[in-house]
Amino acid sequence: MSDTSGPMDEQARAKRNAGYYAADLIEDDAIVGLGTGSTVFYMMDRLAGRMREGLRATGIATSFQTERRAYEYRIPLSTLHEYDVIDIAIDGADQIDPAFRLIKGRGAAQTRERCVAEAADAFVVVADKGKLTDALTAPVPVEVLSFAVPVVMNRLAALGGTPVIREGVKKDGPVITDNGNWIIDCRFPRIDEPERLEDAINTLPGVLSCGIFTEFTGKTSIVVGTPEGVEYLSL
Ligand code: 5RP
Repeated sequence: MSDTSGPMDEQARAKRNAGYYAADLIEDDAIVGLGTGSTVFYMMDRLAGRMREGLRATGIATSFQTERRAYEYRIPLSTLHEYDVIDIAIDGADQIDPAFRLIKGRGAAQTRERCVAEAADAFVVVADKGKLTDALTAPVPVEVLSFAVPVVMNRLAALGGTPVIREGVKKDGPVITDNGNWIIDCRFPRIDEPERLEDAINTLPGVLSCGIFTEFTGKTSIVVGTPEGVEYLSL
């Protein structure tokens, strides 16, 4: 995870430019979905600065990591119970295709990220240029109830994938998500029809959510950061 201070490489500058631009899209009194990841951290950095200057906003966090950063920045948080409609959700992505279909979930937060994107009137994706791709090819993260993992592994293999349980780095054994579940990363040789694959995975019993996001394209815009600035894309 990148820091938001200190000397920056080109990718960090690109992420910062994207994050700062997206934070400037937030209007006064907005309910803001706060995604997860390093690019979102830059967005929160800028949002916190704007709030110190008087902007009012309330965040809905998509992960423990984002929650903790919001506490540090003193960005007030609420929940989907209090706000079931969100003005704008801002989140990162691992891959973005030309139709604005995404692969997310490097940080294992895709289930809550999907819930927040669903509730949002506008979904703004912040990313450096390296995330843009002609076709989705990255392994698809899948959050699964531990109880169902072996069966889901079989079904993912039957769909043509190579499923691997995500292992912890400073913990032995599987990564446990913020929701108490496991993550399977599943590589597919080609993802020709992301909508169908997303649906096939998300309807497997025991699956909470996979990292393919195709259903939000109608309300999605993309802020692509470069070291020099941003490009704002909408369909
Ligand atoms: C977490 C995600 C992140 O938004 C995605 O991995 C992008 O992260 P970063 O901005 O650090 O590159 O989906 O589950």
